[in-house]
Amino acid sequence: MRGALERMSSKLIGLLLILAVGALVPLGLIALSRSRPSPNRPVHLVFDMDKQPKFKGQRPSPMFADGRAMRPRIAETLAREDLTDGRGGSGLFSDAAEYDRVVHGVNRQAGGKMDYVTTIPLPVTMELMRRGQDRFNIYCSACHGLSGYGDGPVARRAAEMQAAGSSDAAGWVAPSSYHTDQVRQRPVGYMFNTITNGIRTMPAHGVQVPVNDRWAIVAYVKALQRSQNAKSEEVPDSEKKAAAASPTSPTSPTDKTARP
Ligand code: HEC
Repeated sequence: MRGALERMSSKLIGLLLILAVGALVPLGLIALSRSRPSPNRPVHLVFDMDKQPKFKGQRPSPMFADGRAMRPRIAETLAREDLTDGRGGSGLFSDAAEYDRVVHGVNRQAGGKMDYVTTIPLPVTMELMRRGQDRFNIYCSACHGLSGYGDGPVARRAAEMQAAGSSDAAGWVAPSSYHTDQVRQRPVGYMFNTITNGIRTMPAHGVQVPVNDRWAIVAYVKALQRSQNAKSEEVPDSEKKAAAASPTSPTSPTDKTARP
């Protein structure tokens, strides 16, 4: 009886061993097929989002008449989000005249004549000013300088290269200072247009700076101009005290004399 049991169990162990080794065969086959290149697509058990139908960037699509999957911006339109900041409302215009003022900085007169707006068509809040300062420092100060004298690092470097006779800087035109009568007296719509489309040798910024931010920059540049061209009587007493207390404050006269 005992001998029979032992024979049984050694058979059982043998069987189990075969099963255990056999169970590795499919794993081995999988590992083998994974390690070899194959012209077939891998087996995809879970249909993840990578399998969804979609258009990829810069690819054609037969769905549109122009054959492009990427849709260009529709001319003369702008995204609602472009205009929600600072205006409080839904970003929609009450009429075509407001649209012209905000988006193009112009007033359209009878007969199709246009002139530049002379007031900023958005509410000028402290928030707009701060945004303007932020955007100005990013997009404009490299050339025009933080105070708008046309002495940003790019301008200085170009002037150095020009002085050294470099042909790379031969065609460089110095950025305008904002503190000349000519630039100061331009209507705000004119400056808005300068930012949007560029002017003479200055490049356009309309593509990278949205409408609201352009007005924010205009508001800030107007403030910069005012800051460099004010009489001391115009400074409120409270500010005078603050300026006297802190000699490095931007309203202090030392800031101006430090300029080249
Ligand atoms: C790549 C350098 C560069 C950058 C960046 C730049 N500007 Fe200019 N800007 C110039 C130059 C150069 C001129 C003078 C162009 C000329 O006279 O040919 C100029 C002229 C101007 C003028 C005077 C135009 C006039 O005659 O009324 C204003 C205002 C102005 N820029 C505002 C801005 C603002 C605002 C920004 C930021 C959105 C900006 N610029 C960014 C180079 C630059």
